[in-house]
Amino acid sequence: MTTLNPDEEALAQARQAVHAASRIAVLTGAGVSAESGVPTFRDAQSGLWASFKPEDLATEDAFRSHPERVWNWYAERRSRLQHVQPNAGHVALADFQQRHPGRLTLITQNVDGLHQRAGSTDVLALHGSIADDRWLDPCALARRPQDACSVTVAQPGQPPQCAECGNLLRPDVVWFGEMLPAEALRAAEYAALRCQVMLVVGTSGAVYPAAGLAHTARQAGAQVWVLNPHPSELDEVAHGFLRGPAAEYLPLIFGEDD
Ligand code: APR
Repeated sequence: MTTLNPDEEALAQARQAVHAASRIAVLTGAGVSAESGVPTFRDAQSGLWASFKPEDLATEDAFRSHPERVWNWYAERRSRLQHVQPNAGHVALADFQQRHPGRLTLITQNVDGLHQRAGSTDVLALHGSIADDRWLDPCALARRPQDACSVTVAQPGQPPQCAECGNLLRPDVVWFGEMLPAEALRAAEYAALRCQVMLVVGTSGAVYPAAGLAHTARQAGAQVWVLNPHPSELDEVAHGFLRGPAAEYLPLIFGEDD
């Protein structure tokens, strides 16, 4: 009889829990894309917030006071995303969803679109999408509030502007102090309440309401597993830990039985 070491034991338990469950919720953060070469936010040296201040780049005030600086930061992140690929972690989740339709709800804080590029469907993107833009304000000249700006003029290194009212286009992501997309958040809360297993992958658990979903799942009786090479703020709600990289562990958890 083979004796498993604690990591192998935890992996076997997490895999068993996932494969026994008919309702699974997976909450991901920047760590799931780290092995694709996308920097996280709070990792000591490599995290974006180690070199930049969130209040200077990821708030509406920052965009209103320095639109070109914020626009160019997002433009740089967008162009870097064109040179990265989904990794084995993204692919394992997408494959499981295709093999078992309706069993896994994928909730992400990531704006990078790598889950969707890996083939995941119905991804609940709580913090928006870096690939999309939207108008900063309603069009000042529109007769009806729903009449958005239409004609854009774009100077190099500047956010595109409405040629009529000067309104700015902004990245369609959720900045600090902003509300999350209501429909996605409602669906995520519903999934957290109903899931039998929640796997929390690659998030520091520092940002709410997203991190609150793990607490909701735990309180509703779900088994909560945290996959993260480092301790996180959600360790307190976990039944078990998988201390390793997402691209290595997710295929081992969600892969098919040999
Ligand atoms: N596999 C799994 N986890 C990893 C890996 C990896 N290869 N590499 C790093 N991690 C973990 C880190 O240990 C860390 O706990 O991923 C986590 C990343 O945490 P953050 O950088 O804080 O990112 P995230 O939790 O997604 O941030 C939440 O904050 O800045 C805002 O809107 C932004 O959506 C973001 C939110």
